[in-house]
Amino acid sequence: MGLKEQLAQWTAEVLAVQLKTADEVEAFRIHWLGRKGKMKEVMAMFKAAPDEEKRDLGKLINEFKQRVEHCVVEGSAIDVQSGGEDKQQYDWTRPDGGVPVGAHHPLSVVRREIISILERMGFVVSEGPEIEDDWHVFSGLNFPEEHPARDMQDTFFVNRSPDMLLRTHTSSVQVREMEKREPPMRIIMPGRVFRNEAISARAHCMFHQIEGLYIDKGVSFSDLKQTLLRFAQEFFGSDTKIRLRPSYFPFTEPSAEVDVYWGLKTEVDKRITKGTGWLEILGCGMVDPAVLEASGIDSRDYGGFAFGLGIERIAMLKYQVADLRAFFESDMRFLEQFQGEQ
Ligand code: PHE
Repeated sequence: MGLKEQLAQWTAEVLAVQLKTADEVEAFRIHWLGRKGKMKEVMAMFKAAPDEEKRDLGKLINEFKQRVEHCVVEGSAIDVQSGGEDKQQYDWTRPDGGVPVGAHHPLSVVRREIISILERMGFVVSEGPEIEDDWHVFSGLNFPEEHPARDMQDTFFVNRSPDMLLRTHTSSVQVREMEKREPPMRIIMPGRVFRNEAISARAHCMFHQIEGLYIDKGVSFSDLKQTLLRFAQEFFGSDTKIRLRPSYFPFTEPSAEVDVYWGLKTEVDKRITKGTGWLEILGCGMVDPAVLEASGIDSRDYGGFAFGLGIERIAMLKYQVADLRAFFESDMRFLEQFQGEQ
């Protein structure tokens, strides 16, 4: 068989072939175009052909080679469209998996909830500076000169100036508000506070408080108690019980710490309440007349109460978080659990 006839036969073969997978396409390519492929045979026969036939034969060979190459290219394309196993192909109809949506930080959720309960009782929100002077954090709040809370061990001082410091509680904002406003006033003051404490599961050098202050004529301790009971029942549930334990703060007299009844049903209850069933949530008291006077309020006409609560502490109770540090570590596995909390 001459080369011309051979090419005609192979052309028919190539036209009949149906390539379905990437493997078939590759085998086809090697069979015809590979190093030991049929094209090599064709070229050898071309060389041996009489010179006068070479012109025509050259043309036929080119046509044949193009046809073979065309099959390889088409085969690859067909394979991609049909989603061959070894060629990763994008499925445009696949759902996109959604855009990750952010969530509110649990401390923001709790802060907002506490504020909204107190706002409904008529308190208005105010804020003060985090870097404070000694007067607003200590002296104006009746802390004696030698009080241990002023100690370097508790307080971060700024630039070694004994007068500038990071506030250790939001009670500093009470002083600012009393200096600024005329009574009556009903204010809540949320913010960050700083204490030079070793970081542990229960303590941090930075945390958040919400301060409350109510000054008016004839405010009594029972107003304080009722306000806090109402708050606790709104936040923890309508049958929540509270108790007040006598305590001491330089700026309130009398002073108390408030516990909510948590229960003693489970082992966890016993552990977190240290076997008592009660959990402390805040400190409070009647504003000391000396504090009112220091801020220019006449204590013969006016009196009031104040309270301060830790947002982390309340959030730990609400969400049963055992380690305070979780709030500050930005670990997505922790934060994602609060998706959907408002
Ligand atoms: N400032 C106190 C604290 O940080 C809490 C408190 C506020 C107590 C207001 C009484 C009145 O612990």
